[in-house]
Formats: sequence, structure tokens, C-alpha cells
Amino acid sequence: MFRTTTTTHKHKNSDRRMSEFLYFLFLVPLALIFLNVFKPSKWKLPPGPKKLPIIGNLHQRKALHPRNRRKLSEMYGPVVLMQYGFVPVVVISSKEAAEEVLKIHDLECCSRAGTAGTRATFYNFKDIGLAPFGDEWSVMRKLSVVELFSVKKLQSFRYIREEENDLCVKKLSEYATKRTPVNLEKALFTLLGNIVCRIGYGINLYDCDFVDEDSIADLVLKSEEVIRGSLFSDFFPGRIGSFIDWISGQKKRLNDTFSEVDTFYQNVLDEHLKPGRESSDIIDVMIDMQKKQEKDGDSFKFTTDHLKGMISDIFIAGVGGTAATTLWGITELIRNPKVMKKVQDEIRTKLGDKKEKIKEEDINQLDYFRRMVKEIFRLHPSTPLLLPRETLSHVKIQGYDIPAKTQIIVNVYALGRDPKLWENPDEFNPDRYLDSSVDFKGLNFEFIPFGSGRRICPGMTMGIILVELALLNLLYFFDWGVPENDGAKIVTGNEDVLHIVQVLHH
Ligand code: HEM
Repeated sequence: MFRTTTTTHKHKNSDRRMSEFLYFLFLVPLALIFLNVFKPSKWKLPPGPKKLPIIGNLHQRKALHPRNRRKLSEMYGPVVLMQYGFVPVVVISSKEAAEEVLKIHDLECCSRAGTAGTRATFYNFKDIGLAPFGDEWSVMRKLSVVELFSVKKLQSFRYIREEENDLCVKKLSEYATKRTPVNLEKALFTLLGNIVCRIGYGINLYDCDFVDEDSIADLVLKSEEVIRGSLFSDFFPGRIGSFIDWISGQKKRLNDTFSEVDTFYQNVLDEHLKPGRESSDIIDVMIDMQKKQEKDGDSFKFTTDHLKGMISDIFIAGVGGTAATTLWGITELIRNPKVMKKVQDEIRTKLGDKKEKIKEEDINQLDYFRRMVKEIFRLHPSTPLLLPRETLSHVKIQGYDIPAKTQIIVNVYALGRDPKLWENPDEFNPDRYLDSSVDFKGLNFEFIPFGSGRRICPGMTMGIILVELALLNLLYFFDWGVPENDGAKIVTGNEDVLHIVQVLHH
């Protein structure tokens, strides 16, 4: 769903100097508060790296990058306590600890922690994904399950998925004929963007007057930039933090980056508010419910934030995660030619060589292909640290005390590559599932790319079918490689995804 990795912000130099001065100015009073808040306690807190006064472990945030996963747990164990400014964060990286958080203590651990970036992107947390646990979250989630993710709805959207994949194949054929490299990332954003916009809001990017198919990649990447960015108030919450965000210009920069995305969502909403509209997607249903709530004087009413929160969830979760997973699939196959050959042999033998279009039921015959997709989800979970949870009350995990309102991060990436649980964990080997019942639907805690428990991804079935259908089309109709002179990028185990690839044949 929501892709999360760490990046740095690019600030102008003068802005940075101003921010640094202001940080210093406010560190002294913060130090006094800090000394008072962090009194020694009777609790057995999890171990973690030594904290500096005030900033705690802020300078060690890179330790949380999925690729540095092993260092943290090797040094301190599977439950690690970090302190980012005033915000305590517990990092989970063993199967047993994950099971305690997501199953045994799911209820105590099922709220969400937010940042200024996620507050903007998900409209004051009035969406599903970042909403705190409670009635509003429950109403929104149930609605999405009925109107978007039910088996009946999924079936009814099938023609959209197939039509859009056919169109993508036609466009890629031109690259194959001309033998020019293709920006596969962009092609996938367009493919999955149009499927998701048609399903979620009945909008076809090819005949829409406020957005075109080429802007989708940019909109998703901008949203992700806002989600990943950090503001001072994320680590020093409260009025002082917000004041520094405002005076240093960080808040303005965030709003400026998000404004284009917000305009897109506003246009989607306006389209639904036009009089005489006939279709009935999930946003229409919410607007009808809103009118009824007003008439009946209900205590809970959908606001514009709820509507835009839903639009945002569908867009970011539906497009970003599925496009990233599919791109990783082609990347791994290019770097592992034996697997590529085996999977294409299976596909082309079982489906024959005369098909003009792929149908979703074709996937059912393809056992190795499905194992291969499973392996992509293990090695490249699109949300490698899940969405941050927050404890509602005090809880004990692996014998450690975790106080209420602590942020919990489950390192799914580390679990999927834990050498104690997986043989040759970094190897892309679909056959590892031949004699194993381990699956990714939320019950095996070493393999949870869609999360688990109450907050498990509700779009899991839709996400899997989107990735499978896209990959099947790409692999049935085309052969793939890297552009000439790009040989260095095909090193097996390289952890950078390939964006530009070459369609070799079709
Ligand atoms: C490759 C496909 C996808 C992956 C890997 C994925 C992964 C995830 C993960 C890891 C979470 C957090 C789970 C947790 O905290 O335990 C999540 C939540 C969520 N996902 Fe997905 N997702 C995918 C596709 C989708 C799609 C297609 C949609 C909708 C169009 C969607 C909608 C959501 C929503 C609304 C939540 C928030 C659930 C909640 O907090 O109650 N996801 N997803």
C-alpha cells in the first residue's frame, strides 16, 4: 500500500540555516522538559542504542532503513526502543514479537501514529489507513470492504482490469517494434493508475479534463515525498514544534508539495458533486450517506476530509504499492534469468502461443508463476515497515514493558529475510514454497507484506490480482532485458529497482 522508505529533504541553504538557528533556540527549554519527562521508571523497557540528550536517537534514524535491518536486531534483539526527540518508537523484528503485537495484543496495539506529512496526505487522519482506532475508522473500513473489496465488487471490476492491461500491452508493443528502451515504472503507474481511478472513482484518465495518464507517476511520487518527509513537530510535538514548523517554512514547503495532489483529489470530489450524476462508486455512496446523515441529524457525519481521505487512500494504496511490486518483479526476473526462463516456459506452455488477450482465470493454471509472485512479496514488501501502529494502553511484548501511546514499527522486510527462518534469504527462489505452507495472508508472521490483525490491508485480494495480471501480461507477450551498456545493473542481489528496461521481443 503506502510505500515507506527513508530519504532526505532538499532544503535551500538559507532556509536550513534559519531552521538550525531556531532549533537551537528552542532546544534549551526542551532540554528542561526532557529531563523531567524521562525519569527512571520501574518498567523493564526494551534495549536500544544509547540516547543523546534531547534528540535521543534522531541521529540514528538510518538504522531503521529496511536495508540496515539486521544491524539493529543483531545488536539489541528483536524488540528495540528508539527515542526520536520526544517520541518513543519500538522496532519489532522477530516472528514471535510480531505475533504478539499483531495477534495476541492486536487490540492494544491497533491505533496509528501520524506525522505532519501523513496528517496532510490523509486529511487529518479521516481516512482508513492512518485513522486512530475507533468508530470512525470502523465505519470507513466496513464501507470500503462492502463497496470496493467484496468478492462481488472485485468480480464486477474485472473487465476494467483486463481492458487496461490489453491497452498497456498494445503500447509496449510499439517499444518492442522500435527496439527503444521503455520507462517501465511510468508505464506501470499509468496502467495501475487508470485501473484504480476507474474502479475507485469512475474516472478514465484517457478522457479526463483535469488530469492525464502521464501525471499519475508524478502525483504518487509527490504524495510519497510528503509522507516520508519529517518536520520538527514530528519529533517534538506540541505548540513549540508546530511553531518551529511554521516559522522555519517547513510547513509551507510541505503544503506546497502537496497542493498539486490536493487539487487532483478536489477535482475528483467535484466530479462526484456535479448534479445529475448517475454512477455509484464508493465516493458517490459516501456522498449519499452524508446527505442522509444531515437529514436524520446523525451524531456522526462524513465531512469533506472523510471523502478526500478515502480518495487519497485508494489512490496512494492502490497505485503506489502495486506498481512498485510489479516493477520489482520484472527487475528480479531480469537479474535471475533461470527463473525468468522457467516462469515464461510455464506460462507459454500452459497458455499456448496463440492468445491475443490474457484473462484473469488464466492465472489459476500457473503454479510456478504464483510462487514467483509470492517470492516478490517476500523480498520486496512495498510497505517494508508496515504503517506505524500506536499502543492504546500499556502492553508487554517479549517480556518488555511498552507504555501507552508508544509508536510500534514492525520490520516486515527484516522478517522476510531473517536467516533463522529462511534458507538463503536474499535469494530469489520461488521453489522455496514447494514443500511449505507458509503464506502471506497474515497468519505466518515471518511473511506479512499485507500486515496482519485488525489493521491488515483490506485491499489485499485486489492488490494481488492487480500485480499478478500485470506481470502475466508482461511475461506472456514480451521478453525483457536491460538497455545496451546497462549490464552493471543486472547484478543478482542488487537492491536497486530497474526503472528503464528494454522490451526485447514480442
Ligand atoms: C501490492 C499491493 C498492496 C500491498 C503490499 C499492501 C500493503 C499494505 C500494508 C502493509 C498495510 C498496513 C497493514 C498493517 O498495518 O498491518 C496496508 C493497509 C491498507 N491498505 Fe494495502 N496494500 C496493497 C494494496 C492495496 C490496495 C490495492 C488498496 C486499495 C485500493 C489498499 C488499501 C489499504 C488500506 C485502506 C489500508 C489501511 C487499513 C487500516 O489501517 O485499517 N491496499 N496495505
